[in-house]
Amino acid sequence: MNVLLLGGGGREHAMAWRLSQSPLCQSLFVAPGNAGTRDYATNLALDPNDFPAVKAAVQAHQISLVICGPEEPLVRGVQDFFKADEALKKVRFIGPSAEAAKLEGSKAYAKEFMEEFNIPTAGYRNFSAATLADGLDYLETRRPPIVLKADGLAAGKGVVILNDVGEAKTELEAMLSGKFGAASEEVVVEDFLDGIEFSVFVLTDGKDYRILPVAKDYKRIGVGDTGPNTGGMGSVSHPPFVDADMMAKVEQRIIKPTMKGIQARQLDYKGFIFIGLISVEGEPFVIEYNCRMGDPETQSVMARLDSDFLQLCLQTADEEIGQSTISIDSRQAATIVLVSGGYPGSYEKGKLILGLDEIEDSMVFHAGTKQNEAGEVVTNGGRVLAVTSYGETFQEALAQSYANARKIHFAGSNYRGDIGFDL
Ligand code: AMP
Ligand code: GLY
Repeated sequence: MNVLLLGGGGREHAMAWRLSQSPLCQSLFVAPGNAGTRDYATNLALDPNDFPAVKAAVQAHQISLVICGPEEPLVRGVQDFFKADEALKKVRFIGPSAEAAKLEGSKAYAKEFMEEFNIPTAGYRNFSAATLADGLDYLETRRPPIVLKADGLAAGKGVVILNDVGEAKTELEAMLSGKFGAASEEVVVEDFLDGIEFSVFVLTDGKDYRILPVAKDYKRIGVGDTGPNTGGMGSVSHPPFVDADMMAKVEQRIIKPTMKGIQARQLDYKGFIFIGLISVEGEPFVIEYNCRMGDPETQSVMARLDSDFLQLCLQTADEEIGQSTISIDSRQAATIVLVSGGYPGSYEKGKLILGLDEIEDSMVFHAGTKQNEAGEVVTNGGRVLAVTSYGETFQEALAQSYANARKIHFAGSNYRGDIGFDL
């Protein structure tokens, strides 16, 4: 069958690699893709948020399965667009409806969902400009650190953690006066949870589910988890502190009630649920839901997923995930992300990337790359490449990824040297 994957990051490159290995895959298209996805697929130069353009591509290439990588098209209703269109409604689609994608697209919706279905998460209250005075009073009752979250999508920048009540008040006022535009018209004020984070990925057909390999992501730009948040600087699968006992708690207290909530609210959910968790003294709490896979977690997760990924997607679309088996490579996987100098602030693009031919025993997943007119691969974004390797231990996998990351050069290149430091 012909498959269309929407997106163009390292996550999509890793998914494209796995999809292309399936005997069920005839032709694979990625929109817009990057310089790396060309190895497995035909790149289509279209914006996944341009739904009529997506429709035209589906028709032109006789696509029978669409997989949506990023959250934005989902939150904007791409799944609903498919369901409402006579010509598209028979095309299998992996990704939730806009209503279900609110689990990621609205932090207030997600918190209220977790409250209703008794899912452990930090204590919170929501405020809007109309209730700013209540919000300021509420902040007086909190002990720092205090977490403020813009309700809507804010390109990963909408969470601010303050160590002082006065600063939190100033920030709440700024956010409610439009600091993040419409995304911060509502703000969640949340208690700070102190612990270690990890990412659990669930593939669901809305009725049943399967748990994919677990990963840990490193979001901060700086060594020792310092400096601003990024999209992610590295990942490890499987983080050793997430033992069987922890996973049993996650399944009982979080995944099962989440599924119950999806069914109780009749959410149309065929796709990935990425649960961002924090272990506080061995007890799991939800930090956030995402309606997609994580990046750069997917690079390590796909490395370890031994089942036919395309078949799993088809079983999801056909509400047969309950009949699937997930087989996981017993080896560990680790990913190092190479970023442009200046990222997550401003950075330059178009830097020539050297050394890609010298990589041995690692996979290089592209993110912000493109081919220039001379046919060379150049940088085209903040996160440029992800180097993923296997090892019998995660330390071995990391050492291999670092050995290969050192061979790749572009002007201003930067990566964190301490991925896995806390494991
Ligand atoms: P989010 O966008 O909700 O994932 O938040 C971004 C990052 O902020 C998370 O990965 C955490 O590191 C941090 N964070 C968010 N909420 C909390 C919380 N309640 N307690 C501690 N850290 C948090
Ligand atoms: N790596 C975190 C994310 O994809 O949101």
